[in-house]
Amino acid sequence: MSNPKPFATRIDLRSGLMSGYERHTLRRLSDMPGYFHASPADEDPLIYEYFERDVPPEDGQIVQNVSILHPGAIDGEYHMTKGHYHANRRCSEVYLCLSGRGVLLMQTRDGETGALELERGISVYVPPGWAHRSVNTGDQPLMLFALYPADSGHDYAAIAEQGFWARVIQGAEGHPLVVPRRDGSG
Ligand code: F6R
Ligand code: ZN
Repeated sequence: MSNPKPFATRIDLRSGLMSGYERHTLRRLSDMPGYFHASPADEDPLIYEYFERDVPPEDGQIVQNVSILHPGAIDGEYHMTKGHYHANRRCSEVYLCLSGRGVLLMQTRDGETGALELERGISVYVPPGWAHRSVNTGDQPLMLFALYPADSGHDYAAIAEQGFWARVIQGAEGHPLVVPRRDGSG
């Protein structure tokens, strides 16, 4: 794929719909075995989806991504993305929350942890080396715009095996709680 010419993209700030996307990825509960602390066998909700503009996967190119996390919870655990490290450890990412409410969970391989709240207008810088997972803690879709280097690559395996340092669950009166995990319970 050669260097593209300059191009514009329209992002509907209400629906999150991105014009001209080349990639649309859908994640249902059945695509995420072992990620939630429970997986009811009788339902398979759409947890999240994301749209991307394709550029060459090379140093210097940047991917634009719109992620939509649908509201809901699986046995009290809010809908969330799989989460990943960037395979290229030099690659960072910027998230901008377009609408909804949520939390961005982060962690490093050295055991540092972070959790930052997401709401319309908040941007979060994810430095190199920090795994990231977004969680929808609201009752509306959580819409996120993200920019990341096209040569980042995605390492899902470490998170699939070890999970994140905390789970985000529905507390009393519907308030979200970020609950640190004490052991290797996924
Ligand atoms: C890209 C990135 C996001 C996610 C998206 C879905 O590096 O961090 O755009 O790809 O929010 O999450 P995952 O990739 O964890 O399924
Ligand atoms: Zn990423």
